[in-house]
Amino acid sequence: MLMTRRIVFVFLALVLALGGCQLDTGVKIIKMGHAQVVSHPVHQAMVFLGKRLEEKSGGKIKVKVYPNQQLGTERELLELLQIGSVGMTKVSAASLEAFSPEISVLGLPYLFRDDAHITQVLEGEIGKELLLSTEKYWLRGLCFYDAGKRSFYSKTKPIATPADLAGLKVRVQESKMAINMVRGMGGSPTPVSYGELYTALQQGIVDAAENNPPSFYNSRHYEVCKYYSIDEHTAIPDVVLVSTKVWSELSPEEQVWLQEAADESAVYQTKLWKEAVEEALREVQKAGVEISYPSKEPFLDKVAAVYAQVFQEQKQLEALVQRIQQTNK
Ligand code: GCU
Repeated sequence: MLMTRRIVFVFLALVLALGGCQLDTGVKIIKMGHAQVVSHPVHQAMVFLGKRLEEKSGGKIKVKVYPNQQLGTERELLELLQIGSVGMTKVSAASLEAFSPEISVLGLPYLFRDDAHITQVLEGEIGKELLLSTEKYWLRGLCFYDAGKRSFYSKTKPIATPADLAGLKVRVQESKMAINMVRGMGGSPTPVSYGELYTALQQGIVDAAENNPPSFYNSRHYEVCKYYSIDEHTAIPDVVLVSTKVWSELSPEEQVWLQEAADESAVYQTKLWKEAVEEALREVQKAGVEISYPSKEPFLDKVAAVYAQVFQEQKQLEALVQRIQQTNK
């Protein structure tokens, strides 16, 4: 065990010592770390991004993708981007909350009317502002990836109404907004990093969690949680980011290639996503998971109190929520 840790530590030290963008015989290699497994559609989209960047640059820039939290948790990866030890990452918007209070707005329950509304907001002015809102912290957002809708899964029972959350320790992302959301719905929120969640569920440190279908499936949490209740309480997107240190070392032409490659990978990822959701639901059901579709009404009844609590803590989000609600094209 000690030996394995030492090997991991030496590997990490070596990878990070080289910096986020390393020059190897005239080829720039950008290191990109993330928390998902390689079968997840976001990993495939990042590989696609690298391929497009390599093509656009005539082989002069490559992206090396490190999945599975190999380089750190989402929070750690963001810190490594800030100092330029890692060049790029893909994290949940929830993980950016500490760097951009504005972005935390995306974690409010039932914020969007429907899928078209999500696209209008993220691809419009507000989306652009949110992507650049972390730049002062040395993190430049390039594009959003679809992370669908998050729903509750539990080890012991379906979550048919918020009342079923009472007494349950529910894993949340390391985000104040997520804590407020689960507490407001009636559960006991417990922040755990994504990579540690399987064990936390297995050992009973938490009884339940929430995520989109591809993540529930690819993380294998369905092996432990046999009840998946599709209440779709949030639609928090993923964000692809580049360290401003790496970005500023690229020529204007290279910056255009990177932005284009990211945008193209987002289009590709959206295509993969729909299929991945269907596959995930099919496979977890085959593995014995009981999927239910509870009425959203009782969950919606809790929303006003969650919003009131959030606005009390972060007054400035009120105007942004209004702008989002008024967005219709
Ligand atoms: C989603 C998201 C990940 C995040 C995970 C989580 O799957 O895409 O980036 O790590 O949620 O719940 O932590």
